[in-house]
Amino acid sequence: MQKQRVLITAAVVTVVFIGLAVVLAVIFRPAATTETGRVARVNVLTDSANTCVQCHRNATAGIVEQYGRSTMAAANVSCEQCHVVAANYPNAIEHEGTYVVNSPTPAICQSCHVAEVAQMAQSRHGLPAYVAVAGSQDLPENHLAQYLSITEGQPSPDKSRHDIAAIEGDVLTRFTCYACHDIGRPNEDGSAGECQKCHLRHEFSLEQARRPETCNACHIGPDHPQFEIYQESPHGIAYATMGDTWNWDVDPGMATVKDFPAPTCATCHFGGLGAAGLTHDVGDRLTWFLFMPTSVRRPGWAENMVRMQTVCLECHNLNFINEFYTAADAATERVNEWTDEGEALRAEMAAAGVLTAEPFDQPIDFAIFNLWHHWGRTAKFGVWMQGPDYSQWHGAYELLNDLAEVREYYNEHMPGAEPPAVEEPAPTPAPSS
Ligand code: HEC
Ligand code: HEC
Ligand code: HEC
Ligand code: HEC
Ligand code: HEC
Ligand code: HEC
Ligand code: HEC
Ligand code: HEC
Repeated sequence: MQKQRVLITAAVVTVVFIGLAVVLAVIFRPAATTETGRVARVNVLTDSANTCVQCHRNATAGIVEQYGRSTMAAANVSCEQCHVVAANYPNAIEHEGTYVVNSPTPAICQSCHVAEVAQMAQSRHGLPAYVAVAGSQDLPENHLAQYLSITEGQPSPDKSRHDIAAIEGDVLTRFTCYACHDIGRPNEDGSAGECQKCHLRHEFSLEQARRPETCNACHIGPDHPQFEIYQESPHGIAYATMGDTWNWDVDPGMATVKDFPAPTCATCHFGGLGAAGLTHDVGDRLTWFLFMPTSVRRPGWAENMVRMQTVCLECHNLNFINEFYTAADAATERVNEWTDEGEALRAEMAAAGVLTAEPFDQPIDFAIFNLWHHWGRTAKFGVWMQGPDYSQWHGAYELLNDLAEVREYYNEHMPGAEPPAVEEPAPTPAPSS
């Protein structure tokens, strides 16, 4: 199965866009490089005659101050271009003789950033993030069709509302699940997601988006500790100790290893370093669905692997990277064997009525869940992103601990039953899919 990517149009648009951005940057960029190499921006709206700006200097001084320092303000993008809409636009508010929205959506950014919007929409940062919590059953027709067309979205085992979200209820999920998963929420104007989850308004600063702390808003904690893993990796140590000297404002697509001597999350998953292109499709370089209980290969994984390795090869040699991928694949398959065993024990106990049909009502339900959801995932993430403490003590070790508990529970509650034989994992298909 080949992914139906919009990469070609995206590439063309990106090239045109970058060309435009470079021209605009030369003409307008109001930046002066300080002695430390950092860019100090001036507020280009100080003398602006724009009516929104003039009044909002008092109404919301912080917004005008921040937006005035952005490269978009310097390129003459006005408040109106993001906020003013037709009277019948979803969520339009009558305001000072016109209509505004208070939270511009990707449909509005799209008028200038076609590629970024399309790429994000086909990734798990789009609708799949929302569906993971809410299920797909209540999506409007156009959003459902969009969701079903996302290749990366398909492996979610269950498209109904998530059990834990249902137990917690709306009073909590606004502050829990959705605080992160709204990154892909369906918007009433037909678009999906919130760009401002990573591009904090109103500076829309590249440095802010590129720093790993931005991803830390969500990629943290027991079930997806990518930030903690990064912190203990050699890449993260380079960032923590040397990052202040890096060239955070380099134009998109122009970064070299001189700007970034070690990679950040954005370098590996978004950024154009050297020969690697820019993308907002975070699935574009991944070979496994690591978050799944038992990981399977992604559609088009071999091409994805080449794209990720293009990043690695800016700094490492091919033998090093090939050896690393072979070892990390084997470690992933090892974790798969254990999560398969956990699932087989669960299935037999459920069939025998030892586990109730009700989710998360028995303490053992939590051990069965943590086994793959926390520790199996964490072990795999640690392997792939160089975090040994997470592969080991917060990963494989905790997994074995829960597996021992589940096995004991099985032996106690299924007297005389033979523990299920776990099948050998299917061999990885040849890299042609
Ligand atoms: C005469 C002053 C004035 C002008 C002109 C003005 N605003 Fe406002 N605007 C305000 C004030 C005051 C508020 C805050 C209202 C509040 O706190 O409830 C506001 C609120 C807003 C909000 C939030 C609306 C909400 O209900 O959440 C947006 C968005 C906004 N303005 C955008 C604009 C844009 C874009 C323009 C130019 C087309 C503009 N404003 C022109 C004074 C103004
Ligand atoms: C590039 C698009 C863009 C431009 C240009 C822009 N905004 Fe916004 N604005 C946003 C986004 C996105 C949000 C929503 C932030 C959120 O949901 O957290 C927002 C939110 C707001 C809000 C409501 C949120 C709050 O904290 O009160 C106001 C008021 C506002 N903008 C005013 C302005 C004014 C005034 C200007 C011009 C000086 C401006 N914006 C320029 C994208 C933009
Ligand atoms: C009217 C056109 C227009 C709209 C609408 C627009 N942008 Fe932009 N944006 C631009 C231009 C032009 C630049 C290039 C500025 C530069 O690099 O000089 C830019 C640059 C950016 C950058 C990179 C900033 C940098 O320093 O290089 C980000 C991030 C961004 N936009 C996000 C958004 C988001 C998010 C929205 C919607 C909420 C949005 N834009 C809406 C025109 C627009
Ligand atoms: C701190 C932010 C955060 C919170 C809070 C959060 N999640 Fe997540 N969730 C994530 C991230 C990040 C991933 C991606 C994991 C990966 O791919 O490594 C994820 C992955 C998932 C997945 C697996 C992906 C899929 O599409 O099947 C499900 C299901 C899920 N979350 C459901 C929930 C539910 C339900 C809640 C609330 C009970 C919740 N999450 C709370 C950040 C969060
Ligand atoms: C998950 C975080 C994240 C989200 C969500 C996100 N971006 Fe970005 N964006 C980034 C990062 C990281 C970069 C810097 C890439 C690099 O190193 O050049 C970036 C860069 C950009 C740029 C500069 C040019 C480019 O393509 O690199 C634009 C324009 C932009 N984003 C627009 C958007 C728009 C529009 C949306 C919403 C549809 C959006 N972004 C959503 C993380 C995000
Ligand atoms: C507001 C929360 C949030 C932020 C900020 C965020 N992410 Fe995510 N990310 C998610 C969620 C939620 C998922 C899982 C979506 C799902 O359930 O399908 C995810 C998934 C991913 C994936 C896996 C995609 C796949 O196909 O499985 C990658 C890679 C990723 N994010 C990278 C990043 C990077 C890099 C940044 C910072 C530049 C970032 N994210 C910022 C919430 C976030
Ligand atoms: C050196 C490059 C590199 C850096 C830096 C990096 N990652 Fe990764 N990331 C990878 C690789 C490689 C994989 C596994 C790819 C595969 O499946 O083939 C991965 C996997 C992931 C996944 C798992 C997606 C899934 O299948 O569940 C997420 C989410 C993620 N990274 C987010 C992040 C975040 C957030 C950061 C920063 C805190 C980060 N990454 C830093 C290379 C990197
Ligand atoms: C911008 C340069 C750069 C990129 C890109 C990069 N790395 Fe690294 N990597 C480094 C540096 C610097 C070190 C630290 C070497 C040392 O320990 O002296 C390192 C170390 C490593 C290590 C050694 C870990 C250990 O514990 O000793 C591994 C494995 C690794 N990188 C894998 C990758 C993979 C896989 C990719 C691509 C997904 C990648 N790197 C991309 C610069 C980079």
